[in-house]
Amino acid sequence: MWWIMITVASIVGAVNTLSCEEARMKCAYRVGCGRALQNYAMDCSIVLQGAPPKHCPELCRHSLIALTSTDEGKNLMECECSDEYCEEQKRRVEICRPQVMEEVNKPVLPCRVAQWICAADTMCSTALDYYNQLCRSMFHGKKCTTRCNNSIAILRRQEKAAKLSTCRCDGTEDFDCLTIQKNMERLCFRKHQRIPYGHRNRTESGHHRHKVTTLPPTLPPSVIVVEEPSSSVRVSFHSVLLSLIAFIFVT
Ligand SMILES: *[C@@H]1O[C@H](CO)[C@@H](O)[C@H](O)[C@H]1NC(C)=O
Ligand SMILES: *[C@@H]1O[C@H](CO)[C@@H](O)[C@H](O)[C@H]1NC(C)=O
Repeated sequence: MWWIMITVASIVGAVNTLSCEEARMKCAYRVGCGRALQNYAMDCSIVLQGAPPKHCPELCRHSLIALTSTDEGKNLMECECSDEYCEEQKRRVEICRPQVMEEVNKPVLPCRVAQWICAADTMCSTALDYYNQLCRSMFHGKKCTTRCNNSIAILRRQEKAAKLSTCRCDGTEDFDCLTIQKNMERLCFRKHQRIPYGHRNRTESGHHRHKVTTLPPTLPPSVIVVEEPSSSVRVSFHSVLLSLIAFIFVT
């Protein structure tokens, strides 16, 4: 019996542990993960190079959160090194692990990080591109068009956009996070928040009123996604989403 178990264990082991070279390639070849990997290399350079790191800077932690939100990025953190350089990089990044693990489980993340998480996922990033294109008049406080509203609904259905719906504007964004949050609430979700006339005197305290309303997602305008999607995979995702939007219009 024991030899069967050993065989199974070695097969399972072989399946689970990817070489770091392979993990790196898998990530680099997908646009979203490749970008998260580049950001990580840049934002964590203090940790990865030079004198042994004494702490893990916030920007590096946030890039790590974005990178490890993808399957390929997760593999990269658990892969098997085949040389000393790789081993050293792995050892150095260990200093970030406790804080990253703690932060990633928080229900509310800064909007910048929430946006990176979405951008690292293919479908979420495409939905975000559409939202950025179609919601310009909302960003500028003019109106929430049907197409903008639809793109918000599609974005909210993305698993990797969950943190965007609850994120907090902390001033580190390169867009006017708070204004957009207010515009979205006012222009796209106002109907939801209107308190039925007959119930008015029950909700007179402003406090209660706030509880009744559902907070809209805080979503950023066109930023981050600097690179144009180049692969045909991205293009086909775009057309899938386009037909999805078209479908919503028809029905
Ligand atoms: C946007 O869509 C939501 C449902 O997803 C709806 O409740 C809301 O009234 C819509 N807003 C506008 C301005 O069309
Ligand atoms: C609303 O106020 C009126 C009188 O001002 C009162 O008779 C009524 O019971 C109140 N309704 C509720 C739901 O509190």
